[in-house]
Amino acid sequence: MLREQGIWIGQSPERQAMLLPQMANRHGLIAGATGTGKTVTTRLLAEGFSELGVPVFLADVKGDLSGLAKAGGQSSSVNERAARLGLTLEPAAYPVSFWDVYQKTGIPLRATVADVGPILLARMLDLNEAQAGILSIAFRIADENGWLLLDLNDLRSMLAHVAEERGQIQLRYGNVSAASVGAIQRRLLQLEDQGGALFFGEPMLELQDLITTGRDGRGRIHILDGVELSRRPLLYSTLLLWMLSELYESLPEVGDLEKPRLVLFFDEAHLLFSNTDGDLLERITQVIRLIRSKGVGIFFSTQNPRDIPDAVAAQLGNRIQHALRAWTPAEMRAVAAAADSFRPNPAFSTLEAITTLETGEALISLLDAEGVPAVVERCLVLPPASALELLDPAERLRLVVADPLYDRYADTIDPESAHEILTARVAEAQAASDQAREEAARLKQEREEARLAAAEKREAAREEKEAQREREKKYGWLTRMSNSAVSAIGREVGRSLVRGVLGSFKKK
Ligand SMILES: Nc1ncnc2c1ncn2[C@@H]1O[C@H](COP(=O)(O)OP(=O)(O)O)[C@@H](O)[C@H]1O
Ligand SMILES: [Mg+2]
Repeated sequence: MLREQGIWIGQSPERQAMLLPQMANRHGLIAGATGTGKTVTTRLLAEGFSELGVPVFLADVKGDLSGLAKAGGQSSSVNERAARLGLTLEPAAYPVSFWDVYQKTGIPLRATVADVGPILLARMLDLNEAQAGILSIAFRIADENGWLLLDLNDLRSMLAHVAEERGQIQLRYGNVSAASVGAIQRRLLQLEDQGGALFFGEPMLELQDLITTGRDGRGRIHILDGVELSRRPLLYSTLLLWMLSELYESLPEVGDLEKPRLVLFFDEAHLLFSNTDGDLLERITQVIRLIRSKGVGIFFSTQNPRDIPDAVAAQLGNRIQHALRAWTPAEMRAVAAAADSFRPNPAFSTLEAITTLETGEALISLLDAEGVPAVVERCLVLPPASALELLDPAERLRLVVADPLYDRYADTIDPESAHEILTARVAEAQAASDQAREEAARLKQEREEARLAAAEKREAAREEKEAQREREKKYGWLTRMSNSAVSAIGREVGRSLVRGVLGSFKKK
């Protein structure tokens, strides 16, 4: 619910907990055990941002957010709560776009292999250091030459050529073992089975398409179906990290705005940080910190706040803690840590409150206008204006197909036929390159004869030949690749490509 000062989230006996829009890029945390009210709180925030004209992206892991597209007021828990708070409920439906990597319940969401980049891919494929090194060599060669790897077939072709040209590549880039390339290829096959073939490809999601406001001035709420996706934690977290990376590399610096340009909600947030070594974690942390100045706010949602690394947790200024259970010593430590992260309120013990909160009740501390965390309040969270029930699946599909974004992303380039086309192009290019080689040999011989014939040109010709040899030594293998193989690998962009902090392209 909106108030002049911001998004009204909860009510304590003394005051209203109000999220200030100008502080929403300071990131936030929504924590609590299952069934304690995290999703409803998330929904309330999404509604508030939409009303403020701020678009929102949510990963819907449980599949219980589709009701955002439908006016609420039917649920007894909502009506009871409104009565308890003395509120008149104003049911509202929100402008929603549904997205689905698996292409069943929403607009297809894709990214290209090239854009996801070697760092996130290595993590996703769970590669060891040597394998990750080879993957980054493959990307470097592609990037230096401006070849865009689009889907998994392209990456496979690229790796096959790295293996083939191993001898030459090793001279410039270091060790490339055929066994490691084989291991990466096997991982790629597994990834393909898990939905990777659907996720990687074109047309890729343009993040600018998320940052839109409807004709009525409300921000769009983008819901990613996370039910199946979150069962593939590495695919799920790669997608979210890629979005972060893309936003970071493509949005201009804006400093502090009166409201964010986009707010992301990351459910099961601990998955973002699993499988990350020190260096990658540092990069992720850096992007999370710096993305604030690009006008992007992130709310991390998790059961146990300790699952969020300290360096990230320290950046979360707006905190909403639902109940935690504490039966085991480990759970008690988690509760104590959660309690310690709040600025205490003399009126009650934070530690005791955490374990006694009822459903839809939370400890809330938000940043004030100076950016200082307020004293923690024990609040009843407001009821949402949209429906708690699910949207009817047929109605959902109707919205998907009617979505203006659907037309842009619905059609995939059929990877099967694309692959066939590419294979044909390889054969063609191979014949052309054989001809080119013969031609080059003939020219070389002619030059040699000319050199012998014209003594006065001997010195110049010698230098030319020297230079030619130098080029051949340096780039010969590359030329051979670009003639024959590269036509099988993605698309040429004709310039070299530069990568950013998390390995996706720099766009500015
Ligand atoms: N703010 C709220 N207003 C009304 N009902 C709520 C509220 N918070 C929680 N509830 C009720 O509690 C149930 C469980 O909350 P939910 O947000 O799904 O928990 P979690 O996401 O933490 O598992 C909801 O389905 C709803 O019936
Ligand atoms: Mg939930």
